This record gives sequence, C-alpha cells and structure tokens, in this order.
Amino acid sequence: MVGGVPIFHLLITTYRLHNEQYNTENTNNKMSFHQRYTGLIERYRDRLPISDDTRIISLGEGNTPLIKLNNIPRSMGKDIDIYAKYEGLNPTGSFKDRGMTMAVTKAVEEGSKAIICASTGNTSASAAAYAARAGITAFVLIPEGKIAQGKLAQAMMEGAVIIQVKGNFDDGMRLVKEVASEAPVTIVNSINPYRLQGQKTAAFEIVEELERAPDFHCLPVGNAGNITAHWIGYSEYAADACGHVTDACSLCDGHCRYAGGPLSGPKPKMVGYQASGSAPFMRGAMVDDPETVATAIRIGHPQSWDNAWVVNKESGGWFDECDDEEILAAQKLLAENEGIFCEPASATSLAGAMRDINSGKIPEGSTIVCTLTGHGLKDPDTAIAQSTAPVVKINAEMEEVKKAILDNM
Ligand code: F0G
Repeated sequence: MVGGVPIFHLLITTYRLHNEQYNTENTNNKMSFHQRYTGLIERYRDRLPISDDTRIISLGEGNTPLIKLNNIPRSMGKDIDIYAKYEGLNPTGSFKDRGMTMAVTKAVEEGSKAIICASTGNTSASAAAYAARAGITAFVLIPEGKIAQGKLAQAMMEGAVIIQVKGNFDDGMRLVKEVASEAPVTIVNSINPYRLQGQKTAAFEIVEELERAPDFHCLPVGNAGNITAHWIGYSEYAADACGHVTDACSLCDGHCRYAGGPLSGPKPKMVGYQASGSAPFMRGAMVDDPETVATAIRIGHPQSWDNAWVVNKESGGWFDECDDEEILAAQKLLAENEGIFCEPASATSLAGAMRDINSGKIPEGSTIVCTLTGHGLKDPDTAIAQSTAPVVKINAEMEEVKKAILDNM
C-alpha cells in the first residue's frame, strides 16, 4: 500500500497515464501502432467470396513490397518509373500463396479432406504449406527432374504426398483433372476460381500504394492465371458499382459482387512475357514439348488460354517472348544492381519490359510494374551456375584476408 492505495492500482494508473501520454504524442506525430496484419483474406474480406463464419486458412500472405528500381532505370538512360512487386516475399516464397489461402480456405469450408495439384514447383510448395496449416492432405504431381530444389524441399518438408510424373507439367495437369473427377480431392491449380480471387488482391495493393494504376503491368506467363487475376483486380477497382467488370472472370456470371473501388484513372495495359521455348501465346497454339531454364513457366498448354486473350484484348496489352539468355541476364541484373533476388521465371517480366522500354514500345514517362513472382532462393542451382561473383579461397591467415580485400576493392 502507498498512501492507502494498493500498489497494483498505482502501477495500473501509472501504466495507463504513460500510455495515454504516449498515444497522444503518437497521434500528434501521426504515429501509432499498426494493427497486426493477418493475411489478405482478412484485409480484403469484403471483396472475396467468404462469409463471417468462414474459417480462414492463412499464413499472413500478401502485403508484399512494391520496390521502386533506382539503378536499372538510371543505367538505361530512360525517364521511366519501374516498380518491382516482390511476390517472392510471400510465406512460401511465391505469389501462389495469395491464391492458395483462398483455395484451401474454401476447400476446407466445403468439407474437403484433401487437395491436389500439378505443379512446376511453386504451387506444390504453397499447396503443401496451406494443407499442413489446415490439417488436410496435399497430393502434388511434379515433372520428374524439372523442378527447382528449393521448391521440392518445401513440398517434402511440408508433408505433401509427392507424385513424380515422367512427363511435364501439362501431363500432370491432364492427370489431375482426370483423377479429381473420380476421387474426393479438390483441385487447387488456378483452374480453381478461388485461386484467381486471392491473386487479384495484388492489383488492389498496387493501386492503393501508387494511388493509381501503372500504365503497364508486366508479368511472366505460364498458365496465364496470374495475369488474368491481376486484370480482374484492376477491373473491379475501376468498375462502377454493380457494373460489368471483365469477361475474364466468370465467378458471378457477369454480375460482379465486388465491382467498385478507388481507381478512377485508366487501367494498365497487361503485358505477358513467355520463355521462348515455352511460348504458346506467341505461337498462337499449344506447344507440346516446352523447354526453358525458367522451369516455373515450362508450360505448353496454358490453362487460362481463353481468359488471357480476353485480358490481352480488354487491356490493350500484348504478349512477347524472351530467350533463356535474356531471362538469366535480367535475373542477374536485378540481384547485382538492385539487391533483389528472384527466380529465373520472375525475371522474364523485367527482361521483356526492358526490351520494350528500349525499343520505345513502352514510352518514356510511363509507370511500369513488373511482378517478381518467386524468390531467388527457390532455385539455388541455376543461380550458382550462372554467378560470376569472385570466390577467393584462402588459408585462415590475416595476411591472406587482407590481400583478398585489397585485390578486390
Ligand atoms: N512465375 C512463377 C515463379 C511461377 O511459379 C509461375 C507458375 C508463373 C510465373 C506463371 O504464372 O501460371 O499464373 O501464368 N507456376 C505454376 C506452378 C505453374 O506450378 O508453380 P501463371
């Protein structure tokens, strides 16, 4: 007791006074504690097909950094703003988590005990993680020998049942569709409409951060689910409430429940870049033997073929292709000059954008967003194989360290 007041009460009062003072100071300085971020479904719950009772399966995905590139635009000598949307910073290291939180949340809501996907790697890592979180089983079909080590490690650690197919992604996808019609498993590839619903939120974040849409949004294209999802997001944010949004979305049969948003200016032109050896959108037809160092987009039969053409037409954008050399050069450039490490497939967006900026197809004065879909750590083998960083081997002697430093200043 102090002067008749219990010590505990004094402590509480002091604590409250301190906090009130702190909060007042914070308000004055326009600083406050942020609410804990708990993932994109919670953040955009009014714009996603969930109800108040839905049990959300989340790992805190979304809310990824939009990094303005400094050194690359300067070295190009162009008056251009390029932003990298670094989706590699999602919980499993790729943009797939945006779609997977929605797909697994809905699968669990609908009573599913197992999910299944075909994958070039990232979808399998994401499916495995969200299934583990939900307490259900993930079956993942991956092309034997053609998935990056980091992705395989993830799926294995996260307890997925891994089915290695002697074939490519397209073979796996065909099998998944067939088996899902006969077995009690939910497909969580991007043909699952909830995947695109989750992924559309990347466009929301970009608009909110830039307070406008970019003029051009550049993405690597495999199945073309992600370019479609982004277009749905931009279109919803730009639409009049209850108006028609885009033919690329079939969720609400033309009567979009989520139309209306803060975007008053124009929507971006959506530009999709493919790897030359896996470029069905450039060939105008499916490719049966896709090949590229960017294994994530080694896909010859895109699942969102029709939607991607709708996006192309509605947005006024285009498709183009980059060869493996250009892709790897862009990956290295980003890491060396901006400190951003993405996987090869992701760098396709920057490789293509740089070519189109240099040619003037993307004019000076433009604001461009390039999505970097996956983290560089996903594929350490390709990174180390192409790195030219000096590795100096020395004996554990001071003089030798000094020499190594002086020789490489
Ligand atoms: N970038 C990365 C890193 C990817 O993993 C993928 C697709 C894409 C781009 C292309 O996106 O298919 O929506 O056009 N990866 C899938 C997978 C196929 O299985 O992980 P898309």
